Amino acid sequence: RKVTVRSPATSANLGPGFDVFGLCLEEPYDIISVEKIEDGIKIEVDGEKSGEIPTEPDKNTAGVVAKAMMKDFNIKEGIKIHITKGIKPGSGLGSSSASSAGVAVAISELFNLKPSKLKLVEYAALGEGVAAGSPHADNVAPAIFGGFTMVTNYNPLEILHVPVEMEVLIALPDIQISTKEAREILPKKIEMGEMINNVGKACGMVYSLFKNDIELFGKYMMMDKVVEPRRAKLIPKYEEVKEKVKDKVYGITISGAGPAIIAIPKKEYILEVKELFEDVWGRVYLTKVGGGVSVL
Ligand code: HSE
Repeated sequence: RKVTVRSPATSANLGPGFDVFGLCLEEPYDIISVEKIEDGIKIEVDGEKSGEIPTEPDKNTAGVVAKAMMKDFNIKEGIKIHITKGIKPGSGLGSSSASSAGVAVAISELFNLKPSKLKLVEYAALGEGVAAGSPHADNVAPAIFGGFTMVTNYNPLEILHVPVEMEVLIALPDIQISTKEAREILPKKIEMGEMINNVGKACGMVYSLFKNDIELFGKYMMMDKVVEPRRAKLIPKYEEVKEKVKDKVYGITISGAGPAIIAIPKKEYILEVKELFEDVWGRVYLTKVGGGVSVL
């Protein structure tokens, strides 16, 4: 038997929610298949920039997840994992998380393991440890749960989930930003005033979701005073475009560690903003908030 899943891109941070907030997208996505083999873990990768992805199980995000799950569930057989990358690695769209989350769901399905969603996030986060150096869950959580998620605790991992419907534009400038580098430029300590600002705006964003107020959500999304202003200079033309579209979107910010940009366009300006993004940055996805990894 072969199990195939579609595992979506995700957008972490959303401005003030650094390392906490995450949003699941419908597009782009990876397609991941798993099937039983006699023994061992075999990984094949094709698609977007697949030449850059290691296929040794200990170095591959999906391989690490598979290894941990097979050990914990005492699975004696082997597994072959095939990943077709639709999400460009190093783009700020949770590419490695999609592979980790997708393989966790696919293995559960193949061996009928039925772990909780939280447990799946825990396994998937192990893959993030390999890809980004620390096991963040702010991309794997929305990939598994769908909608909007908040990582409210590590050790033990706690995730809060809010289903959301929203249309978003994702621009993908043709540069690569290493997450490690994008984290190194951030301060180790911040001012009390910056903390107060970000907690306030993050609270406002969560409130706005319950009120179904996308305008308010977008307004606060743009008011991060800690991370986005420091990372903005890593993305060519970001500030310039942000200024140009300020009246045409509810919100715009950097997706994850970048270079991808996430914007919530006002209905009447969707195509105009999309075209502008295309002119400046090339690749653009007009997509919606998605429901997480799905078994095909
Ligand atoms: N929250 C992380 C960051 C996402 O912005 O660095 C990337 O893994």
